[in-house]
Amino acid sequence: MIGVLRLTKLKVGIIGCGGIAQGVHIPNYLKLHKTVEIAAVCDVSMERAKACSEKYHIKKYFSDFKEMIDNADIEAVSVCVPNKFHAEATIYALHAGCHVICEKPPAINVQEAKEMANAAKTAGKILTYGFHYRHSNEVQAIKRFIENNELGDIYAAKSVAVRRRGIPGWGVFTNKELQGGGSIIDIGVHMLDTTLYLMGYPEPDMVLGKTYQKLGNRKGVGLMGEWDWENFSVEDMGRGMIIFKNGASIILETAFAANVQKDETMQVSLMGDKGGADVFPVQIYQEKHGSLIDIHTPYLEDKDYYELEFERFVNGCLNKDTPISKPEEGVILQQIIDALYESSYTGEAVKIK
Ligand SMILES: NC(=O)c1ccc[n+]([C@@H]2O[C@H](COP(=O)([O-])OP(=O)(O)OC[C@H]3O[C@@H](n4cnc5c(N)ncnc54)[C@H](O)[C@@H]3O)[C@@H](O)[C@H]2O)c1
Repeated sequence: MIGVLRLTKLKVGIIGCGGIAQGVHIPNYLKLHKTVEIAAVCDVSMERAKACSEKYHIKKYFSDFKEMIDNADIEAVSVCVPNKFHAEATIYALHAGCHVICEKPPAINVQEAKEMANAAKTAGKILTYGFHYRHSNEVQAIKRFIENNELGDIYAAKSVAVRRRGIPGWGVFTNKELQGGGSIIDIGVHMLDTTLYLMGYPEPDMVLGKTYQKLGNRKGVGLMGEWDWENFSVEDMGRGMIIFKNGASIILETAFAANVQKDETMQVSLMGDKGGADVFPVQIYQEKHGSLIDIHTPYLEDKDYYELEFERFVNGCLNKDTPISKPEEGVILQQIIDALYESSYTGEAVKIK
Protein backbone atom coordinates (compact mmCIF):
# COMPACT_ATOMS: atom_id res chain seq x y z
CA MET A 1 0.00 0.00 0.00
CA ILE A 2 3.04 2.31 0.41
CA GLY A 3 2.91 5.03 -2.20
CA VAL A 4 -0.65 4.17 -3.24
CA LEU A 5 -3.18 6.90 -2.62
CA ARG A 6 -6.01 5.60 -0.47
CA LEU A 7 -9.34 7.21 -1.24
CA THR A 8 -11.50 5.46 1.35
CA LYS A 9 -11.50 5.72 5.12
CA LEU A 10 -10.25 2.92 7.37
CA LYS A 11 -13.34 1.00 8.50
CA VAL A 12 -13.23 -0.10 12.12
CA GLY A 13 -15.52 -2.17 14.30
CA ILE A 14 -15.86 -2.06 18.08
CA ILE A 15 -16.20 -5.28 20.11
CA GLY A 16 -17.78 -4.47 23.49
CA CYS A 17 -19.62 -1.19 24.03
CA GLY A 18 -18.76 -0.59 27.71
CA GLY A 19 -16.65 1.92 29.61
CA ILE A 20 -13.38 1.86 27.67
CA ALA A 21 -15.08 1.64 24.27
CA GLN A 22 -17.32 4.64 24.86
CA GLY A 23 -14.86 6.56 27.04
CA VAL A 24 -11.71 6.13 24.94
CA HIS A 25 -11.88 4.11 21.69
CA ILE A 26 -14.95 5.63 20.05
CA PRO A 27 -14.12 9.29 20.96
CA ASN A 28 -10.56 8.88 19.70
CA TYR A 29 -11.64 7.32 16.40
CA LEU A 30 -14.14 10.18 16.04
CA LYS A 31 -11.26 12.67 16.40
CA LEU A 32 -9.65 10.91 13.42
CA HIS A 33 -12.84 11.10 11.33
CA LYS A 34 -10.97 12.29 8.25
CA THR A 35 -9.28 8.91 7.92
CA VAL A 36 -11.44 6.56 10.00
CA GLU A 37 -15.06 5.46 9.91
CA ILE A 38 -16.55 3.44 12.77
CA ALA A 39 -18.56 1.08 10.58
CA ALA A 40 -20.08 -1.18 13.25
CA VAL A 41 -20.29 -1.92 16.95
CA CYS A 42 -21.16 -5.09 18.80
CA ASP A 43 -21.96 -6.15 22.33
CA VAL A 44 -23.40 -9.34 23.77
CA SER A 45 -26.12 -7.03 25.03
CA MET A 46 -27.96 -6.13 21.81
CA GLU A 47 -29.64 -3.29 23.70
CA ARG A 48 -26.23 -1.78 24.55
CA ALA A 49 -24.95 -2.25 21.00
CA LYS A 50 -28.05 -0.54 19.59
CA ALA A 51 -27.88 2.34 22.09
CA CYS A 52 -24.19 2.82 21.30
CA SER A 53 -24.77 2.83 17.54
CA GLU A 54 -27.55 5.40 17.94
CA LYS A 55 -25.53 7.62 20.28
CA TYR A 56 -22.54 7.83 17.92
CA HIS A 57 -24.46 7.53 14.61
CA ILE A 58 -22.78 4.23 13.73
CA LYS A 59 -24.63 2.46 10.92
CA LYS A 60 -24.48 -1.18 11.98
CA TYR A 61 -24.76 -3.00 15.29
CA PHE A 62 -24.51 -6.66 16.25
CA SER A 63 -24.73 -8.90 19.32
CA ASP A 64 -22.10 -11.35 18.04
CA PHE A 65 -18.58 -10.22 17.12
CA LYS A 66 -18.19 -13.04 14.58
CA GLU A 67 -21.26 -11.83 12.73
CA MET A 68 -19.93 -8.28 12.78
CA ILE A 69 -16.51 -9.28 11.47
CA ASP A 70 -18.02 -11.54 8.78
CA ASN A 71 -20.60 -9.06 7.55
CA ALA A 72 -19.65 -5.45 8.29
CA ASP A 73 -16.79 -5.06 5.80
CA ILE A 74 -14.31 -3.85 8.42
CA GLU A 75 -10.50 -3.71 8.29
CA ALA A 76 -9.66 -3.16 11.96
CA VAL A 77 -11.25 -3.85 15.33
CA SER A 78 -11.02 -2.57 18.87
CA VAL A 79 -11.33 -5.37 21.42
CA CYS A 80 -12.99 -3.82 24.48
CA VAL A 81 -14.47 -6.82 26.27
CA PRO A 82 -13.56 -8.35 29.67
CA ASN A 83 -10.11 -9.98 29.70
CA LYS A 84 -11.49 -13.51 29.43
CA PHE A 85 -12.75 -12.79 25.90
CA HIS A 86 -9.72 -10.88 24.53
CA ALA A 87 -8.08 -13.92 22.92
CA GLU A 88 -11.16 -15.34 21.24
CA ALA A 89 -12.20 -12.02 19.69
CA THR A 90 -8.65 -11.01 18.73
CA ILE A 91 -7.79 -14.33 17.08
CA TYR A 92 -11.06 -14.43 15.16
CA ALA A 93 -10.53 -10.87 13.90
CA LEU A 94 -6.91 -11.52 12.89
CA HIS A 95 -7.84 -14.70 11.02
CA ALA A 96 -10.52 -12.72 9.20
CA GLY A 97 -7.83 -10.27 8.04
CA CYS A 98 -8.47 -7.39 10.47
CA HIS A 99 -5.86 -5.37 12.33
CA VAL A 100 -6.50 -5.38 16.10
CA ILE A 101 -6.05 -3.02 19.00
CA CYS A 102 -6.87 -5.07 22.08
CA GLU A 103 -7.34 -3.55 25.50
CA LYS A 104 -4.90 -4.44 28.27
CA PRO A 105 -3.96 -6.90 29.65
CA PRO A 106 -3.21 -8.90 26.49
CA ALA A 107 -5.16 -11.90 27.77
CA ILE A 108 -6.00 -13.95 30.83
CA ASN A 109 -2.89 -16.17 30.63
CA VAL A 110 0.34 -16.66 28.67
CA GLN A 111 -1.03 -19.48 26.52
CA GLU A 112 -3.68 -17.15 25.13
CA ALA A 113 -1.16 -14.33 24.65
CA LYS A 114 1.02 -16.71 22.62
CA GLU A 115 -1.92 -17.82 20.48
CA MET A 116 -2.77 -14.17 19.83
CA ALA A 117 0.83 -13.37 18.84
CA ASN A 118 0.92 -16.42 16.53
CA ALA A 119 -2.37 -15.43 14.92
CA ALA A 120 -1.01 -11.93 14.21
CA LYS A 121 2.12 -13.41 12.66
CA THR A 122 0.21 -15.88 10.49
CA ALA A 123 -2.27 -13.22 9.37
CA GLY A 124 0.43 -10.60 8.81
CA LYS A 125 -1.79 -8.06 10.56
CA ILE A 126 -1.18 -5.58 13.36
CA LEU A 127 -1.89 -6.68 16.91
CA THR A 128 -1.25 -3.99 19.46
CA TYR A 129 -2.40 -3.45 23.03
CA GLY A 130 -4.03 -0.57 24.91
CA PHE A 131 -0.96 0.39 26.91
CA HIS A 132 -1.61 4.12 26.71
CA TYR A 133 1.07 5.12 29.26
CA ARG A 134 3.74 4.18 26.72
CA HIS A 135 2.45 6.99 24.49
CA SER A 136 2.63 9.60 27.26
CA ASN A 137 4.95 12.56 26.88
CA GLU A 138 6.71 11.53 30.10
CA VAL A 139 7.49 7.99 28.94
CA GLN A 140 8.61 9.17 25.51
CA ALA A 141 10.85 11.83 27.09
CA ILE A 142 12.52 9.25 29.36
CA LYS A 143 12.85 6.88 26.40
CA ARG A 144 14.84 9.56 24.55
CA PHE A 145 17.12 10.04 27.60
CA ILE A 146 17.66 6.27 27.70
CA GLU A 147 18.36 6.09 23.97
CA ASN A 148 20.98 8.80 24.48
CA ASN A 149 22.56 6.66 27.22
CA GLU A 150 21.84 9.17 30.04
CA LEU A 151 20.91 6.35 32.45
CA GLY A 152 23.53 3.81 31.35
CA ASP A 153 22.81 0.19 32.23
CA ILE A 154 19.41 0.08 33.96
CA TYR A 155 19.83 -2.70 36.47
CA ALA A 156 17.06 -1.95 38.96
CA ALA A 157 13.54 -0.59 38.70
CA LYS A 158 10.32 -0.16 40.64
CA SER A 159 6.78 -0.27 39.21
CA VAL A 160 4.05 1.13 41.44
CA ALA A 161 0.28 1.14 40.87
CA VAL A 162 -1.23 1.64 44.30
CA ARG A 163 -4.61 3.11 45.24
CA ARG A 164 -5.79 3.90 48.73
CA ARG A 165 -9.45 2.99 48.13
CA GLY A 166 -9.73 2.56 44.38
CA ILE A 167 -11.63 -0.66 43.84
CA PRO A 168 -13.70 -0.09 40.68
CA GLY A 169 -17.39 0.07 41.49
CA TRP A 170 -18.38 -0.66 37.87
CA GLY A 171 -17.59 -3.34 35.27
CA VAL A 172 -16.23 -6.76 36.19
CA PHE A 173 -12.85 -5.75 37.64
CA THR A 174 -13.45 -7.70 40.86
CA ASN A 175 -14.41 -10.94 39.12
CA LYS A 176 -11.48 -13.36 38.87
CA GLU A 177 -13.15 -15.61 36.34
CA LEU A 178 -13.71 -12.78 33.86
CA GLN A 179 -10.58 -10.69 34.53
CA GLY A 180 -7.98 -13.25 35.68
CA GLY A 181 -7.05 -11.27 38.79
CA GLY A 182 -7.19 -7.87 40.49
CA SER A 183 -4.66 -5.12 41.05
CA ILE A 184 -1.75 -6.92 39.36
CA ILE A 185 -3.44 -7.72 36.05
CA ASP A 186 -5.60 -4.59 35.95
CA ILE A 187 -3.48 -1.60 37.03
CA GLY A 188 -0.10 -3.13 37.89
CA VAL A 189 0.06 -4.30 34.28
CA HIS A 190 0.22 -0.68 33.08
CA MET A 191 3.24 0.28 35.19
CA LEU A 192 4.93 -3.09 34.66
CA ASP A 193 4.56 -2.76 30.89
CA THR A 194 5.87 0.81 31.01
CA THR A 195 8.90 -0.28 33.06
CA LEU A 196 9.64 -3.20 30.74
CA TYR A 197 9.25 -0.98 27.68
CA LEU A 198 11.76 1.51 29.06
CA MET A 199 14.15 -1.30 29.98
CA GLY A 200 13.91 -2.78 26.47
CA TYR A 201 11.72 -5.74 27.47
CA PRO A 202 14.46 -7.97 28.96
CA GLU A 203 13.86 -11.71 29.22
CA PRO A 204 12.53 -12.72 32.66
CA ASP A 205 14.33 -15.43 34.62
CA MET A 206 12.65 -15.72 38.01
CA VAL A 207 9.55 -14.29 39.70
CA LEU A 208 8.44 -14.11 43.31
CA GLY A 209 4.93 -12.89 43.98
CA LYS A 210 2.48 -12.44 46.82
CA THR A 211 -1.17 -11.44 46.63
CA TYR A 212 -3.55 -10.36 49.40
CA GLN A 213 -7.27 -10.02 49.87
CA LYS A 214 -7.66 -7.92 53.00
CA LEU A 215 -9.94 -4.93 52.25
CA GLY A 216 -11.87 -5.76 49.08
CA ASN A 217 -14.01 -8.50 50.60
CA ARG A 218 -15.63 -6.26 53.20
CA LYS A 219 -17.73 -3.11 53.01
CA GLY A 220 -15.74 0.10 53.15
CA VAL A 221 -15.07 3.54 51.75
CA GLY A 222 -15.04 3.45 47.96
CA LEU A 223 -13.30 6.32 46.17
CA MET A 224 -14.23 4.71 42.84
CA GLY A 225 -17.81 3.86 43.66
CA GLU A 226 -19.37 1.10 45.68
CA TRP A 227 -17.88 -2.19 44.63
CA ASP A 228 -19.43 -5.63 44.93
CA TRP A 229 -17.58 -6.61 48.12
CA GLU A 230 -19.71 -9.70 48.68
CA ASN A 231 -18.50 -11.26 45.40
CA PHE A 232 -14.98 -9.84 45.45
CA SER A 233 -12.82 -12.70 44.11
CA VAL A 234 -9.52 -11.00 43.15
CA GLU A 235 -6.46 -9.70 45.01
CA ASP A 236 -6.72 -6.17 46.41
CA MET A 237 -2.94 -6.07 46.74
CA GLY A 238 -0.25 -7.82 44.75
CA ARG A 239 3.51 -7.49 45.10
CA GLY A 240 6.46 -9.08 43.45
CA MET A 241 10.04 -9.20 42.41
CA ILE A 242 11.10 -10.04 38.88
CA ILE A 243 14.69 -10.98 38.07
CA PHE A 244 15.81 -10.95 34.44
CA LYS A 245 18.32 -13.09 32.56
CA ASN A 246 20.54 -10.01 32.11
CA GLY A 247 20.70 -9.59 35.92
CA ALA A 248 18.32 -6.61 36.17
CA SER A 249 15.40 -6.65 38.60
CA ILE A 250 12.03 -4.97 39.11
CA ILE A 251 10.10 -4.58 42.33
CA LEU A 252 6.37 -4.38 41.72
CA GLU A 253 3.79 -2.92 44.10
CA THR A 254 0.11 -2.91 43.22
CA ALA A 255 -3.10 -2.32 45.17
CA PHE A 256 -6.74 -1.55 44.51
CA ALA A 257 -6.95 -0.71 48.22
CA ALA A 258 -4.26 -0.24 50.86
CA ASN A 259 -3.78 1.83 53.98
CA VAL A 260 -1.46 4.42 52.44
CA GLN A 261 -1.46 8.23 52.31
CA LYS A 262 -2.08 8.99 48.63
CA ASP A 263 -5.33 8.19 46.81
CA GLU A 264 -3.31 6.89 43.87
CA THR A 265 0.34 6.43 42.95
CA MET A 266 1.24 5.41 39.40
CA GLN A 267 5.01 5.52 39.10
CA VAL A 268 7.96 3.95 37.37
CA SER A 269 11.44 4.45 38.82
CA LEU A 270 14.57 3.38 36.99
CA MET A 271 18.07 3.06 38.38
CA GLY A 272 20.99 2.84 35.98
CA ASP A 273 24.75 3.10 36.49
CA LYS A 274 24.84 6.55 34.83
CA GLY A 275 21.57 7.95 36.08
CA GLY A 276 18.18 7.23 37.56
CA ALA A 277 14.71 8.48 36.75
CA ASP A 278 11.19 8.85 38.02
CA VAL A 279 8.78 8.97 35.11
CA PHE A 280 5.62 10.65 36.48
CA PRO A 281 6.59 13.52 36.50
CA VAL A 282 9.90 13.30 34.65
CA GLN A 283 12.91 13.63 36.93
CA ILE A 284 16.45 12.43 36.20
CA TYR A 285 19.08 11.89 38.90
CA GLN A 286 22.78 11.90 38.04
CA GLU A 287 26.24 12.51 39.39
CA LYS A 288 28.22 14.93 37.19
CA HIS A 289 31.47 16.83 37.64
CA GLY A 290 31.61 16.09 41.38
CA SER A 291 27.97 17.05 42.06
CA LEU A 292 24.69 15.23 42.42
CA ILE A 293 22.19 16.78 40.03
CA ASP A 294 18.46 16.51 39.37
CA ILE A 295 16.99 17.27 35.97
CA HIS A 296 13.39 18.47 35.67
CA THR A 297 11.43 19.27 32.54
CA PRO A 298 9.76 22.70 32.76
CA TYR A 299 8.70 22.12 29.16
CA LEU A 300 7.34 18.81 28.03
CA GLU A 301 5.20 18.36 24.96
CA ASP A 302 1.60 18.13 26.10
CA LYS A 303 -0.34 15.70 23.93
CA ASP A 304 -3.01 13.33 25.13
CA TYR A 305 -1.73 9.77 25.37
CA TYR A 306 -4.95 8.24 24.08
CA GLU A 307 -4.90 10.50 21.03
CA LEU A 308 -1.34 9.41 20.30
CA GLU A 309 -2.23 5.75 20.85
CA PHE A 310 -5.08 5.85 18.31
CA GLU A 311 -3.21 8.00 15.80
CA ARG A 312 -0.44 5.45 15.85
CA PHE A 313 -2.76 2.45 15.52
CA VAL A 314 -4.68 4.02 12.63
CA ASN A 315 -1.46 5.10 10.91
CA GLY A 316 -0.18 1.54 11.36
CA CYS A 317 -3.30 0.16 9.66
CA LEU A 318 -2.74 2.66 6.84
CA ASN A 319 0.92 1.60 6.51
CA LYS A 320 2.23 4.94 7.72
CA ASP A 321 3.67 3.88 11.09
CA THR A 322 4.55 0.84 13.18
CA PRO A 323 2.84 -0.08 16.45
CA ILE A 324 4.63 0.79 19.67
CA SER A 325 3.32 -2.21 21.64
CA LYS A 326 4.12 -5.57 20.07
CA PRO A 327 2.49 -9.02 20.45
CA GLU A 328 5.72 -10.73 21.56
CA GLU A 329 6.04 -8.20 24.40
CA GLY A 330 2.51 -9.14 25.42
CA VAL A 331 3.69 -12.72 25.76
CA ILE A 332 6.59 -11.78 28.08
CA LEU A 333 4.33 -9.55 30.17
CA GLN A 334 1.76 -12.29 30.52
CA GLN A 335 4.48 -14.80 31.44
CA ILE A 336 5.45 -12.54 34.34
CA ILE A 337 1.84 -12.03 35.45
CA ASP A 338 1.12 -15.77 35.40
CA ALA A 339 4.33 -16.38 37.39
CA LEU A 340 3.41 -13.73 40.02
CA TYR A 341 0.08 -15.46 40.64
CA GLU A 342 1.63 -18.93 40.58
CA SER A 343 4.33 -17.92 43.02
CA SER A 344 1.79 -16.47 45.43
CA TYR A 345 -0.26 -19.67 45.17
CA THR A 346 2.66 -22.09 45.67
CA GLY A 347 4.68 -19.92 48.05
CA GLU A 348 7.78 -20.45 45.92
CA ALA A 349 9.73 -18.46 43.35
CA VAL A 350 8.86 -19.40 39.78
CA LYS A 351 11.65 -20.00 37.29
CA ILE A 352 10.66 -18.93 33.79
CA LYS A 353 11.83 -21.35 31.11
N1 LIG B 1 -6.58 1.14 29.09
C1 LIG B 1 -7.14 1.25 30.27
O1 LIG B 1 -6.65 1.93 31.15
C2 LIG B 1 -8.40 0.50 30.54
C3 LIG B 1 -9.38 1.07 31.37
C4 LIG B 1 -10.56 0.35 31.59
C5 LIG B 1 -10.74 -0.90 31.04
N2 LIG B 1 -9.76 -1.44 30.26
C6 LIG B 1 -9.92 -2.79 29.68
O2 LIG B 1 -10.98 -2.78 28.73
C7 LIG B 1 -11.69 -4.00 28.77
C8 LIG B 1 -13.16 -3.71 28.96
O3 LIG B 1 -13.32 -2.97 30.15
P1 LIG B 1 -14.55 -1.98 30.36
O4 LIG B 1 -14.22 -1.14 31.52
O5 LIG B 1 -14.94 -1.31 29.10
O6 LIG B 1 -15.66 -3.06 30.76
P2 LIG B 1 -17.24 -2.90 30.71
O7 LIG B 1 -17.77 -3.97 31.59
O8 LIG B 1 -17.64 -1.49 30.94
O9 LIG B 1 -17.58 -3.23 29.17
C9 LIG B 1 -17.37 -4.47 28.57
C10 LIG B 1 -18.47 -4.69 27.54
O10 LIG B 1 -18.19 -5.88 26.82
C11 LIG B 1 -19.43 -6.58 26.61
N3 LIG B 1 -19.10 -7.96 26.33
C12 LIG B 1 -18.75 -8.95 27.20
N4 LIG B 1 -18.47 -10.07 26.53
C13 LIG B 1 -18.60 -9.81 25.21
C14 LIG B 1 -18.45 -10.57 24.02
N5 LIG B 1 -18.03 -11.84 24.07
N6 LIG B 1 -18.71 -9.97 22.83
C15 LIG B 1 -19.11 -8.69 22.78
N7 LIG B 1 -19.29 -7.91 23.88
C16 LIG B 1 -19.04 -8.47 25.07
C17 LIG B 1 -20.20 -6.34 27.88
O11 LIG B 1 -21.59 -6.56 27.69
C18 LIG B 1 -19.87 -4.88 28.17
O12 LIG B 1 -20.77 -3.99 27.55
C19 LIG B 1 -11.04 -4.84 29.87
O13 LIG B 1 -10.12 -5.72 29.29
C20 LIG B 1 -10.29 -3.82 30.72
O14 LIG B 1 -9.13 -4.35 31.34
C21 LIG B 1 -8.62 -0.75 29.98
